[in-house]
Amino acid sequence: MNARAILLAAGKGTRMKSARPKVLHELCGRPMLWFALAALRGAGIEEIVVVTNEELDPHVRAMNVRTVIQSEQLGTGHAVQVALAAMEPRPEARVLVTNGDMPLVRAETLAAVLAAGNEGEVSLVTARMPLPSNFGRVVRSGNRVTRIVEVRDASESERAIDEMNAGIYAFPEGRLREAISRLRNENAQGEYYLTDAIAFFAESGRAAVPLLSEDFEEVLGVNDRSELARARAALNDRLCRQHMLAGVTIIDPRTTYLEPELSIGADTVIYPGTTISMLSSIGARCTIGPHARISAACIGDDVTVRESVVVESEIGSGSTVGPFAHVRGHAVLVGENRVGNFVEIKNSRYERGAKSAHLSYIGDAEIGEESNIGAGTITCNYDGKAKHRTTIGKRVSIGSNTSIVAPRTIGDGALTGAGSVVTKDIEPGGRVAGNPARPLP
Ligand code: UD1
Ligand code: MG
Repeated sequence: MNARAILLAAGKGTRMKSARPKVLHELCGRPMLWFALAALRGAGIEEIVVVTNEELDPHVRAMNVRTVIQSEQLGTGHAVQVALAAMEPRPEARVLVTNGDMPLVRAETLAAVLAAGNEGEVSLVTARMPLPSNFGRVVRSGNRVTRIVEVRDASESERAIDEMNAGIYAFPEGRLREAISRLRNENAQGEYYLTDAIAFFAESGRAAVPLLSEDFEEVLGVNDRSELARARAALNDRLCRQHMLAGVTIIDPRTTYLEPELSIGADTVIYPGTTISMLSSIGARCTIGPHARISAACIGDDVTVRESVVVESEIGSGSTVGPFAHVRGHAVLVGENRVGNFVEIKNSRYERGAKSAHLSYIGDAEIGEESNIGAGTITCNYDGKAKHRTTIGKRVSIGSNTSIVAPRTIGDGALTGAGSVVTKDIEPGGRVAGNPARPLP
């Protein structure tokens, strides 16, 4: 495609009242700017230049996109001028200009504005909005746009116009370069307005082609934290809808918190108060929540996770987790496992069918097939200096309230009595009890 994009993001965003640059504030687990970049890429635009300031620049570069620094923020027209000066001229290209603080703009809208208008014409997205509004007003002549007036420069009658400039434009590059060089800053804000370019186009007989957006919410920018919260809710709603249309039941989208790039299988049901994040994948026919937090996790089919936290871990098909379990630190439950109330599992592997149903800490351990860990079992993995591993064989029965002082190996089919403190390895089939645990007669 003969299109390239300039994404404006150098503004200070003072209304966020934040030490962090505005476009780096997060919604649905991604910085605001991520959504603007994703929409541009979704519209098929590969060449993107982001206009940044000194403080923002390293963060944007880290997102693998080209940047140019606008050291002084002299206005949107100046920002485009700085970007164009850094780009190899391609007079035949179409240049899409948009803002970094509009996370709700869809790829379809960007593709549509690029496609609108004939060669040599400029097209722009407009939206009807309730008044009063701080958006620039769109002055039309028939079905063309001849001018955009900023509110602070507008007359009373211009302020009454309810069609707004969304701040998304597709320019023919050659004429854009010409127009930019003619901008002046003689206006209420003493800034170089990109919007003045629209009047220059009209004066040379090429009044702009408007693309009226059906949903003005899509082009609302984020300027303060209340708008950030509103944009988050709208994005979350969109994400929930995508998964629902793909076969996932979400009981209450308003209290289900999703991110982009999740995978959730059909006929999975998500109950309220659940957060799913960090590229997690969840299989089919699962029951997740209420009140689950799933982050960087990989969950198989037919899994239940209730009122529990699963972070950086894998839960195999047919397993049940919770209520009130915490599975973390690269734990792997191979499948058909049961992890119940008040159990914490860290960096451990449960082979098929292994269970720990109540009140345990299992850290740095391997639990063999079909073994059962009794209530209150602790792997004492830390001796004050280093972490040690516990290896438990197949079909082992660990009695309630057993402490296993690692490093320890417990053989297949072994058994510990309630309250055992295991300080020595146990042979396959061995039976021990007591503190310290000794072989049973
Ligand atoms: C701009 C438009 C207005 C439109 C509105 C839509 C102009 C003059 N006005 O107004 O018609 O309705 O967007 O949201 O363009 N930026 C820079 N460098 C600068 C100034 C701004 O990179 O020197 C960036 C900002 O970070 C922001 C974008 O450009 O992402 C828009 O700037 P902003 O100051 O918010 O413009 P508005 O006053 O909202
Ligand atoms: Mg703005």
